[in-house]
Amino acid sequence: MRIGLLQFAPQVGETEKNIAKIQKLLDQSPIVDLWVLPELASSGYNFESRDEAVLCSESLNNSRFIHFLMERATKTGAWFVSGINERNGDKLYNSSVMVNADGVVGVYRKLHLFKNEKYFFEPGNLGLPVFDTPWGKIGMLVCFDWMFPEVWRLLALKGAQLVCHPSNLVLPWCQQATPGYALTNRIFVATTNRIGHERGLDFTGRSQLVDPYGSIILQGKKRKKQTLVADIDLAESLNKIMTSENHAFDDRRGDVYHLELKVK
Ligand code: ACM
Repeated sequence: MRIGLLQFAPQVGETEKNIAKIQKLLDQSPIVDLWVLPELASSGYNFESRDEAVLCSESLNNSRFIHFLMERATKTGAWFVSGINERNGDKLYNSSVMVNADGVVGVYRKLHLFKNEKYFFEPGNLGLPVFDTPWGKIGMLVCFDWMFPEVWRLLALKGAQLVCHPSNLVLPWCQQATPGYALTNRIFVATTNRIGHERGLDFTGRSQLVDPYGSIILQGKKRKKQTLVADIDLAESLNKIMTSENHAFDDRRGDVYHLELKVK
């Protein structure tokens, strides 16, 4: 499959401008099978208040942004994974959607909220789903979820061959951590990070695609809007063999991986 990472600087509350920026970058890029966009790509990130977050949110059934992605999907055949500020009733979720020409085919809601997100969003309540695609099984995480090894392992044990990871990273460590997660789970990881400054936050760019051996096969620049494209074979992630005697999953010692609670 051909995968593309699209990094740019969304603006808070400017859905139409953000769509135009994405469209321009897509128009300048090759056709790919799957595009991965940043976290909250249509709404921007650092809301001043919950009211502002609500104003920038969209219901997945009636979303200008998803409609745009569907149009692009219809025109080019590409699928998209993107962060979105999801409104569901009176609740907001920092979500990632998988969209093709038919509409939304997968939703994940960020489990681990970062800093002020806790004032605007509900913690994710959809668990860690894995979705079948024409290329293989794909899971999604959003930004700060990277910090929690459990989610990578669970997605991999559920069969994810690629984890798409829309991000708005501000801490400097994720790009160091994902090669380890990719290697230890023998999966592909596609982190698309935004660039730019927003209300005191400086985003770290450097979107990256990592293969199941922990090798970085694409890496973006810190401050440049750009698309990055590579051809990968998700079947490589099915091989969990480490040596003739070792298997990354079968050798796990599930019998000892639990905490003994000491009762006084
Ligand atoms: C983050 O989770 N957006 C840092």
